[in-house]
Amino acid sequence: MTPRGTDWTLALLVALGFGTGVLSLVSGRAGDAWVFGLHGAGGAALGLVVGWKLWRVWWRLVDVSAWDRRTQAGVAATALVALTLLSGWVWSAGGDLYVAGWNLLNWHIALGLMLSLAVGLHGVLRAKPLRARDIASRRQFLQVAGVSAASLLALRLQRPGLAALGLDGAGRRWTGSYEQGSYQGNDFPATSWVADSPLPLLADTYRLRVGGLVARPLDLPLAELDRGDTLEATLDCTGGFYSTQRWRGALLGTLLDEAGVEEGATHVRVLSHTGYRWSFPLAEARGFLLATAVGEERLSHEHGAPVRLVAPERRGFQWAKWVVRLELHEGFDYGAASSTVWSSLTPEGRGER
Ligand code: HEM
Repeated sequence: MTPRGTDWTLALLVALGFGTGVLSLVSGRAGDAWVFGLHGAGGAALGLVVGWKLWRVWWRLVDVSAWDRRTQAGVAATALVALTLLSGWVWSAGGDLYVAGWNLLNWHIALGLMLSLAVGLHGVLRAKPLRARDIASRRQFLQVAGVSAASLLALRLQRPGLAALGLDGAGRRWTGSYEQGSYQGNDFPATSWVADSPLPLLADTYRLRVGGLVARPLDLPLAELDRGDTLEATLDCTGGFYSTQRWRGALLGTLLDEAGVEEGATHVRVLSHTGYRWSFPLAEARGFLLATAVGEERLSHEHGAPVRLVAPERRGFQWAKWVVRLELHEGFDYGAASSTVWSSLTPEGRGER
């Protein structure tokens, strides 16, 4: 592979890591497993190509006195790649490490984002165009095929290898998450997407409002949501754990029927007391549950009491907590993703009222 071809390959593999990494955060259906497979295989390929490049330039690196600014930048970039890969691999093997309050997965995501930004900037400022000889040769083709085959093999052997070594990573879910507190009521980790920290909502004064494109807007006290509808579902948090629970409360589909969905409504927006919101296609949302209890316990405040959303096959951050309103609307809600950031800045999100 030519040096320029190698650099382009490295940049494309980092772009693949970024794309599949971000996509993995919203992947929760069984059919999404390819995203994680591609992310892992791309990481293995990046490791192989970086190893190959290091082997080729090693003689220039050993003499530190001959380093110029480009060598320094190259060494820093290599260190960032190595840290990103190592944090991903150690996490996936079962490494339960916390550094400055963050687990390895959170560090991995932060390092991956920094690496993607650095490579993107470098590409914009300095990339040299590919020439025919950087891509069109039999040797080149064989090298790319060899790296791809080796990466896929590494992916295939990863879980059996971890199992043979007795490492926890062998038993993680296909999303990479580790099991915690399944079927143990509120005894599973509580995380909020950014920093939502509302005051507890009082059960006596709580109301759920259902509005928007409905024939009969509803205004329900908590007792009306304690209906005993149940749903067994797995909350899979992008922070790296999953927990399967029997949730109890009111089926969203039944509430929507009672409100009478009007023609034109395509989505239902689920809003939290903090301003946090997420919106789902109606057909899917009909199967969701508004939970007031988990297992045999009432939902705790940290888990979203008095009412949280249970959205099977969606990632945990979409299971809105402290739900106070449902809104039927038409079309995709483009603003929902940004509410995950600003909800922590509202007086309700900060716990001031
Ligand atoms: C940009 C460069 C990146 C590279 C090279 C990279 C590479 C890797 C590698 C090698 C693993 C271990 C996979 C395994 O062995 O099973 C991993 C895991 C993971 N990465 Fe990345 N990553 C990058 C960026 C990101 C970003 C930006 C995100 C999220 C926004 C992300 C999310 C994840 C997740 C959720 C896992 C755990 C999935 C699993 O265990 O299968 N990564 N990554």
